[in-house]
Amino acid sequence: MLDQVQSRRPALGQALAETATAIDRLFDRTLAVPRDSRGRLVEAMRYAAIGGGKRLRPLLVLASGALFGVPRNHLLRAGMAVECIHVHSLIHDDLPCMDDDALRRGRPTVHIAYDEAVAVLAGDAFLALAFETLASPSTHPDAQVRSHLVLALARRSGAAGMAGGQMLDLAAEAEAELDLDAVTRLQRLKTGALIRWSVGAGAILGDAPADAIASLMAYAQCLGLAFQIADDLIDAAGDESCAGKRLRKDGDRGKKTFVGLLGIDRARDRAERLADQAEDHLRDFGPAADLLRDIARFAVERDR
Ligand code: IPE
Ligand code: IPE
Ligand code: MG
Ligand code: MG
Ligand code: MG
Repeated sequence: MLDQVQSRRPALGQALAETATAIDRLFDRTLAVPRDSRGRLVEAMRYAAIGGGKRLRPLLVLASGALFGVPRNHLLRAGMAVECIHVHSLIHDDLPCMDDDALRRGRPTVHIAYDEAVAVLAGDAFLALAFETLASPSTHPDAQVRSHLVLALARRSGAAGMAGGQMLDLAAEAEAELDLDAVTRLQRLKTGALIRWSVGAGAILGDAPADAIASLMAYAQCLGLAFQIADDLIDAAGDESCAGKRLRKDGDRGKKTFVGLLGIDRARDRAERLADQAEDHLRDFGPAADLLRDIARFAVERDR
């Protein structure tokens, strides 16, 4: 997939590859394996976090922070923090009590490769590591900036954000139908919340002006929805070896998605329109925001 991106959007291909390398390195340095029984837990965390995933959320932190001249090491640490929450959410999402999936990022899921208890604990430990990372002075010298990041990420991860969205997603399985507004709300929380934080974090670290933050948040709102519609389209019509996870499950399980409501073609149109709208919100930034524009296109064109 990276090859395709590289030829169509070389700057994005390079940014994705560089982000992946840098985030892998940061996880590798952070996750030192203890010599006692906790070793198995940290091995499982390394297994889940290193060498996989698109690293889209860290890239969003980097791309938005670059607009305001934020040092790269600060952006990478914030990027690792949101990737920790994301990996936490994936490990738990795959558990038998949730989506019950055996494949993730082209490999057996953590509860299959290890066991359920280790998967629960690895998810827990990533949640804590996210906030430990943000709260460290290495992420930003100003404690107020750090506390702003922590507060925002706590809100976006918890019952008012990702975890709440996951609850809506599970509860909706048992419901007859959900209308477009209800699916939009569910997806805005389950996927959109972390994407909004990622775009906002670069602006917080860069002490961006209010009008720039408003435009970026409007961009992130459209991007988050477009991104989850693309995920649902991959489930409905994608290729499993490419996606690295089991597909054709949402329909069987009664998941409520835009694809289920609108069908594949109209869902794809909607995702593309949302990517257009996301780009529109960037007009005041000029060419400096080209990477964010490329990310919006990639979010809907991707095949994994
Ligand atoms: C998958 O996220 C789960 C959703 C929130 C849709 P990604 O598609 O970003 O997964 P990775 O990180 O690339 O594996
Ligand atoms: C998962 O959504 C969203 C989170 C993990 C917060 P999905 O259940 O659709 O993600 P996949 O398809 O398993 O990656
Ligand atoms: Mg799920
Ligand atoms: Mg799932
Ligand atoms: Mg999915």
